[in-house]
Amino acid sequence: MTISNDSTIADAEDRASAHFRDAMSLVPSAVHILATDGPAGLGGLTASAVVSISDTPPTLLVSISQTSGSVHVFRENGVFSVNVLSGRDATLAEVFAGRTGVRGAARFDHGAWRLQPPRPPILRSAVAAFECRLTETRLIATHHVMIGAVTSAHIFAGGEEGLCYVRRQFKSV
Ligand SMILES: Cc1cc2nc3c(=O)[nH]c(=O)nc-3n(C[C@H](O)[C@H](O)[C@H](O)COP(=O)(O)O)c2cc1C
Repeated sequence: MTISNDSTIADAEDRASAHFRDAMSLVPSAVHILATDGPAGLGGLTASAVVSISDTPPTLLVSISQTSGSVHVFRENGVFSVNVLSGRDATLAEVFAGRTGVRGAARFDHGAWRLQPPRPPILRSAVAAFECRLTETRLIATHHVMIGAVTSAHIFAGGEEGLCYVRRQFKSV
């Protein structure tokens, strides 16, 4: 049997990606829902790829897969919110991760949302929420990395446990 160099390289890349995902599954991460509203409509997804970049001025980074059905909605609206989930919202995280089959704007039928277009939706049951104006987007590998200038920060339930994802499971911490 002949194995071409191309398929050998592709197999090695697949193995490296799977190994990377396995290693990353051991890293506990906070769970958020990214949400947007405006001229392009409502969009939202569960996300762990959220980083605080600076407090002066307050700036967040989020990363959305180019395969996400809502990435163009985020880009067109130019605003988004980062909703930090409480330990009680694991079921909502499943909905916004597409695991219950609910897609698009219908996801907002679940959860206690404050809709306020053209500002982004805010989840009332979040521990904290940040409203952002999209200032920069860059495609890196498979993801659109988006920089958000924080326009409002809300503290809703600072004393409550947060939702964490580790070993491919939700945990309240
Ligand atoms: C805990 C967790 C974290 C996730 N983090 C991200 C993320 O940071 N970026 C991303 O693009 N997708 C992430 N996802 C996957 C999206 O939530 C999922 O693909 C969602 O269905 C995308 O929305 P769409 O159906 O509108 O494409 C995550 C899923 C889970 C369960």
